[in-house]
Amino acid sequence: MSTVRTPATTTLVTGIAELVTNDPTLDGSPLGLLADAAVVVADDVIVWVGPAASAPAADDRHDVGGCAVLPGFVDSHTHLVFAGDRAAEFAARLAGARYDGGGIASTVAATRAAGDAELRRLVALRIAEARRQGTTTVEVKSGYGLTVGDERRALQIAAELTAETTFLGGHVVPPGSDRDEYVRLVAGEMLDACAPHARWIDVFCEPASPHAFDGDEARAILLAGRARGLGLRVHGNQLSAGPGVQLAVDLGAASVDHCTYLADADIDALAGADTVATLLPAVEFSTRSPYPDARRLLAAGVHVTLATDCNPGTSYTSAMPFVIALAVREMGMTPGEAVHAATAGGAAALRRSDIGRVVVGARADLAVLDAPSHLHLAYRPGVPLARTLELPRRGRT
Ligand code: NIG
Ligand code: FE
Repeated sequence: MSTVRTPATTTLVTGIAELVTNDPTLDGSPLGLLADAAVVVADDVIVWVGPAASAPAADDRHDVGGCAVLPGFVDSHTHLVFAGDRAAEFAARLAGARYDGGGIASTVAATRAAGDAELRRLVALRIAEARRQGTTTVEVKSGYGLTVGDERRALQIAAELTAETTFLGGHVVPPGSDRDEYVRLVAGEMLDACAPHARWIDVFCEPASPHAFDGDEARAILLAGRARGLGLRVHGNQLSAGPGVQLAVDLGAASVDHCTYLADADIDALAGADTVATLLPAVEFSTRSPYPDARRLLAAGVHVTLATDCNPGTSYTSAMPFVIALAVREMGMTPGEAVHAATAGGAAALRRSDIGRVVVGARADLAVLDAPSHLHLAYRPGVPLARTLELPRRGRT
């Protein structure tokens, strides 16, 4: 028996005023910039990158008309599976109230009450919203179900839309639950039900919150997840210089996220580790908190990533361009560092080598800016410049 394979349709993308490749071999800088560039895509894969003047022929041609093109944003930290909103809590914070995670319970109640179809609709809407702003990969956490059935449901719905699903039963102890019993549930029966639908496990490690988990509880949950084959992620050092960063590094987590309050020892630990520090400046914006010290992390050689943390409590935005603008203005990152962190950095946080770069063999996940260079992402904040590049696909069976 023989199979006939339909040859891939190739598309030449031209008119690229500036191409961000994240391939440092091109220009010696992390962004790997190429002016007047072209890219050839065969179905979902990049097959050629170089100067437009030497581009090969292709079946189709797509001219972006002098725009900048970059790898699609990799949003490596979101909590998109939720119902309801917490606008009143946000308003109270603007009037001076502090965030401590207590509001999560109200989202848990709204999410449990939502039907499957409604929850699926909400998640799809939010992912579409992110794509309209140039995001091509989204990690999605559970964490607003906090029962075996509700956590499994959240992950099943997320898995319909992304491969990057994260079990966050260890978000907070649900009101009325015994703390030790809940940790046992998360690390036992809930994990058993959720692991088949998740790639990662995460935990909100924050002794400064009465609702979240201390270092020992977080370690127990993460170790159980690891034993089930899940990769590790940690919410750490959001409200205090707690044990989250050290725990993440100690266990070889892919990422520790927030890093708002860091001790010297945390920076030292991250500097020698594979664990990336994911900064979420839209959280500091929305909770009126001090921004993480990105410059210090970068100076120490820490791998820094940017993500939205899109959730109804601390950061109700799906906009990676907004996060980039904040990182530049409020954390002193250069536009190049911020764009790199939002693309290649996100890929590193998800331990993916097939995304976050415009190189031969990578996925053709591209974003286009209605602007001639990546600098405009910070230079023109709030302007909808970024979108994903949607190429027509022919000849696919
Ligand atoms: O990453 N801090 C823990 N979890 C989320 C917030 C969740 C919420 O308040 O609904 C975060 O900030
Ligand atoms: Fe989060």
